[in-house]
Amino acid sequence: MNILIIGGAGYIGSHVAREFLDRKHSVTVFDNLSSGLRENIFEGEEHFVLGDILNYNQLLSAMKGGFDGLVHLAAFKAAGESMIAPEKYSLNNISGTINILNGALETGIKYVVFSSSAAVYGEPQYLPIDEKHPADPENYYGFTKLEIERIMLWYDKLKGLRYASLRYFNAAGYDLMGRISGLEQNPSNLLPVVMETAIGKRKEVQIFGNDYDTPDGTCIRDYIHVSDLAAGHVAALEYIAAADKSLTVNLGSEEGVSVLEMIETARHITGVDIPARITGRRAGDPARLTASAQAAKKVLGWQQKYSGVQTLLASTWEAYKRNRRSV
Ligand code: WQD
Repeated sequence: MNILIIGGAGYIGSHVAREFLDRKHSVTVFDNLSSGLRENIFEGEEHFVLGDILNYNQLLSAMKGGFDGLVHLAAFKAAGESMIAPEKYSLNNISGTINILNGALETGIKYVVFSSSAAVYGEPQYLPIDEKHPADPENYYGFTKLEIERIMLWYDKLKGLRYASLRYFNAAGYDLMGRISGLEQNPSNLLPVVMETAIGKRKEVQIFGNDYDTPDGTCIRDYIHVSDLAAGHVAALEYIAAADKSLTVNLGSEEGVSVLEMIETARHITGVDIPARITGRRAGDPARLTASAQAAKKVLGWQQKYSGVQTLLASTWEAYKRNRRSV
């Protein structure tokens, strides 16, 4: 298929582009490089269009490339920042996505894969979280993702736009063949922070609280390898195009790993005694978040392959060792 990947120069977007290319699809990336990196574009394998989803005309002319489907990963994703600058998230995440959806209708692109998030669920009422769990986001970032899901539901009903909303849990890891070298800049997520500390870019990892109701007192999360996530995108697009119907599924490892476990394993894998210090809790952090991915397995035949903690950390450490000068 001929695929447009909006945000395909980003950390997750470049892994998604890589997966579509490996599966012999034709790929065009549309990205404004505000956080995505030029080095994440696979020269000679995919087309690249520099553009912004807030510039409707720019977006529309890019979308007129006769695409069978599109993948949209061009969103701001820092939950903490979204509570300080919601207007930035309204504009980029909601208005930007409305531009994409309206552009899809105008150019006849019928299939949309949307990067959603476990943040739509908010505080877990039960675990593991399945797709029937109430969606009551605790932060504005999660709210923007849920609002976009609601708009797509109406566009499906009124205009026959078919979508796959993929609710990511914690994306981590790097391409095992080392084909993606762009490291996230100024990350706030745990794994890149641990790795920046391991290469000496940061003094220490701050552990945001160890007084949670978990075995070691630190928060538990469901970390999913970006290559597993990417495979889920390909499977989802192929599914909605074949079945001509929309779906919403979780993509997670279904395993919980605590902050301390992650740091200890990172010390073992890197051979670095990574400095870490317990600090106060970070607002909005639930003690535990783990996914049920049974729906994705059943409907898409999707299966995690690389999401074990050793592979997550080893592939990330390889990426940071290779590119330590770029952070
Ligand atoms: C993981 C755990 C922190 C950094 C976020 C978004 C979510 C999704 C994934 C996009 C938590 C702890 C972290 C640090 C720490 N994004 N931590 N010290 O918050 O689970 O989810 O990214 O879809 O929407 O909210 O990920 O990596 O920030 O934190 O102790 O320096 O690590 O408290 O328990 P999170 P995270």
